[in-house]
This record gives sequence, C-alpha cells and structure tokens, in this order.
Amino acid sequence: MLRQATFLPTFAGWQKAARAALLAETPPDSILWQEIGENQPLLDLAEEPEPAQPARSTVKVPKKFVEVATRVACHADPQRWALLYRVLWRITHGEHQLMEIAVDADIHALAQMDKAIRHDVHKMRAFVRFRTIEHEGETWYVAWFEPAHHIVELNAPFFADRFAQMNWSILTPDRCVHWDGKDLTFTEGVPKSEAPLEDAVEPLWQKYYAHIFNPARVKVHAMTKEMPKRYWKNLPEAQLIPELLRKAPTRVNSMMAKSRASAAVDFHPAPVPESDDWAVVKKAACGCTACPLYKTGTQTVFGEGSWKSELVFIGEQPGDSEDLAGKPFVGPAGQLLDRALADAGIDRQLAYVTNAVKHFKWVPSGKRRLHKTPSPREVAACRPWLEAEMRIVKPKVVVCLGSTAAQAVLGPEVRVLRDRGTFRPSAFCEQTFVTVHPSSLLRAPDEAAREEAYRLFIADLKKVAHKMSAV
Ligand code: URA
Ligand code: SF4
Repeated sequence: MLRQATFLPTFAGWQKAARAALLAETPPDSILWQEIGENQPLLDLAEEPEPAQPARSTVKVPKKFVEVATRVACHADPQRWALLYRVLWRITHGEHQLMEIAVDADIHALAQMDKAIRHDVHKMRAFVRFRTIEHEGETWYVAWFEPAHHIVELNAPFFADRFAQMNWSILTPDRCVHWDGKDLTFTEGVPKSEAPLEDAVEPLWQKYYAHIFNPARVKVHAMTKEMPKRYWKNLPEAQLIPELLRKAPTRVNSMMAKSRASAAVDFHPAPVPESDDWAVVKKAACGCTACPLYKTGTQTVFGEGSWKSELVFIGEQPGDSEDLAGKPFVGPAGQLLDRALADAGIDRQLAYVTNAVKHFKWVPSGKRRLHKTPSPREVAACRPWLEAEMRIVKPKVVVCLGSTAAQAVLGPEVRVLRDRGTFRPSAFCEQTFVTVHPSSLLRAPDEAAREEAYRLFIADLKKVAHKMSAV
C-alpha cells in the first residue's frame, strides 16, 4: 500500500517525516513524498515548536549522511526526498557503511547532487555583488542572485558572518534573505519576470522588501514567536497576523539560530580608510579596536613586503615573536617559510606577506603565551583589513597558508588537505592557492613525517613559482 508522507520541503521537515516512516518500518517504494506547497496554510506549522535537539529516537545514522542530506535537501530535483529516504532505509537496514560505497548507484546520485549544491553555494558566495541603497537614513546593501538550487537558507549564515556589520538583502527568485545586523529574515522569492538589470535592484527592493523592516512587523514576528496562537484572537492586530506571516514567513531553523548567536554584532566595524595608500591604511589598522583581540595583543601586525607585489602569502595571525616585532612571519614558522620559499625558488622580498587576523590571540601557560586559533567572528571582524590590502596590492596569485587563511579567503567549505595544491578563483584573486601552514610542519610527529611534509610543502610552493612565471 502506498503511504503519503506530507512534509515541509526543508531538511528538518523531511527528517521528521522520514523518522516517522522509518519507525513505522515503511519501505522506500511504499512512500509518496508530498511537499507542502506555498499555498498551504503556514500558520499551523509555524506554531509547531521546533525542538532544539532532534527528538530522541532509535534512528542512528552516520554523521556523514546527515551532513550530505542537509545539503542535498536543497537540491531542485523533486526526486531527492525519495533518494534520501532510500539511502536512509538502506543504512538502517544492514548497510551501515553504505555512505562509503562510492560506486553504489544511490550514493553516486547523492554525491552528484551534493556536488551541485556545493558548487551553487560557492557560486553565490563568489558572485553576489551588493549595491548600496539609502533607506530611511540607513545604508542597505542589496544584491540580486539566481541560484540553481534552494540554497539561500543554507548560505545565509555565511553572509551573516561575513557581512555582520552591514544591513543587507539578497533577492533571488527562490527566497530572499535579509540581515539587519541582528536577525536573518526570509521572505518569498522575487518573480523571475522582475529580475532586475544589473543596476535596477533598488526599485525592486523598495517595492517588495523595504517595508518588512517596519518595526511594527518585526514586533508581530516576535509576538507570534512568543505567544501561543490561541491568544491571538484577543489582540487587535490579530487579523493582520496571518497576512503578515504569509508575506514574511520567518521560519528560522536551528542552524540560523546558531549563526545568529555567532554573528550577533557586538564588534564594531574596522575603521578602514578608503585610501589606496598602503601606509594610510596600515596606520588606521594600528589603531583598530574592532574586535577584542586588540586588548591582549601588543600591537597590530599588518602585512609587509612590496605592495606592488604580484604574489601574496596569507597566514593565520601573528605569533608570539611577530606580536613583539610588529612584523609578520619572523618567528619559527616564518623562518621555516623563508627556507621553503628559497628552496622553491621564490624570493620573499618580492612577495607581500600578511595574516588573516592582525592581532595575536593567545592563552597564558605559565610564563608563555600559547597560540589560540582565532574564532570565525574575529576573522570576519579583521577581514576588512585583508580586503583593503588586497585592493591595494592587487596580486596575481594569492597563497593561503593553512585553514584559517584559506577559510578567510575562500569560505568555510574549503579544506586544506583536500584542496591544497590547486588554483581557484576567490573574491580577491583569480589564482588563489591553498597549502598547509608552515607551523604544521613543526608539529609533525617525527623526523620522517617532517621531511615528507616539507617535501610536499615545497612541491606546492614550486607550483606557485611556476604559476608566477606564467601569469
Ligand atoms: N603564523 C602565522 O600565521 N603568521 C605569522 O605571522 C606567524 C606565524
Ligand atoms: Fe582589529 Fe583585526 Fe586587531 Fe581585531 S584582530 S582588533 S579586527 S586589527
């Protein structure tokens, strides 16, 4: 007998329906996956409390499946739900290792969809271009983008983190997302027929979206979140609510909530001057107090080298020696970098060397100051300085040393060990390259591992040297 599973077409919606089907032992070919459409009443669903943790159940699946499924849920193919359930079913019916079997037809199909989503996510990050709009005395940044898949919500936390200090909207035919410095809000997509020409995004935004930031509406949103529906009828505004909710359904999932917490702005914007004069920008950076790291670092360690350079190296943050010297890469990691550059035939004097974060983050350990990895928020707070350096230097090749630099430049998806050794475009440079951080060589467990790591690092740097002779 065919059973219909009706669900909200989001990962959480599917997950809930899938869990119920699984617990009822409903095999994959007996389910008809029926998405709840736009025209269905959202109100009843909106009231349903979203559990902070997934409800306890007997369903245990590998973490990898959940990760992949979260992305694949955003794919435009309506068959994705059935595919996800088939894989889930097989995993929980004796094929626990299924995700590892790349040649399996279902896993292959899943991987293809996953790849398409990652690609789309990356494209949105690389190609969203904001235009400024003055609205009621405030500057808004508005962009138009056409994703191939339903990735707006998946990608929103990234934009909230990166552009935490700005008010912005990204309009798409699928969904629109807005950030007012505190909250992400989602609204319906813009009809494709209204897709604006490059510079006509402003009237569109004014027409559809400016009004959703009217405080009265925001309050309605807060109210509906906090007050059970049965009380609404007593409120004078009550009859307005369904209409407002229909127009601005702000179902914020737990991922958004997490992101909001991490992106909540108590950092103020880095005071980057518009100037193209490197010395002017550096001077301003030396007075930066945009994130708390200035309190514990001795000084801002700005980039150094030739600012006409075609080659830039980006590290993570200054270490103990750099913090005291005020120059990047002069301590143990810097010396190793110098040696490796020389072995690869690159003259450090011709390169510009900087860090993703300009203050040393550390924790005390006895008399020593131990390096502590900067948080994504600190990286985001400091990124305007990196942007300014890149704007001035305009390199032809950018080399990210290690994960913090790579993620600051290419976004959180990048993985150093997976992605090292190849060139790819970034917001800063067409030829952006990822390799390990030199200090990772210092951490190798023994001499043989150290030598091998060094050899691989040199091999990467030689690719950079070769690219420099070609660009
Ligand atoms: N590690 C870095 O990432 N940068 C430095 O400047 C020194 C050590
Ligand atoms: Fe400013 Fe960067 Fe230093 Fe934070 S780390 S205070 S953003 S220069």
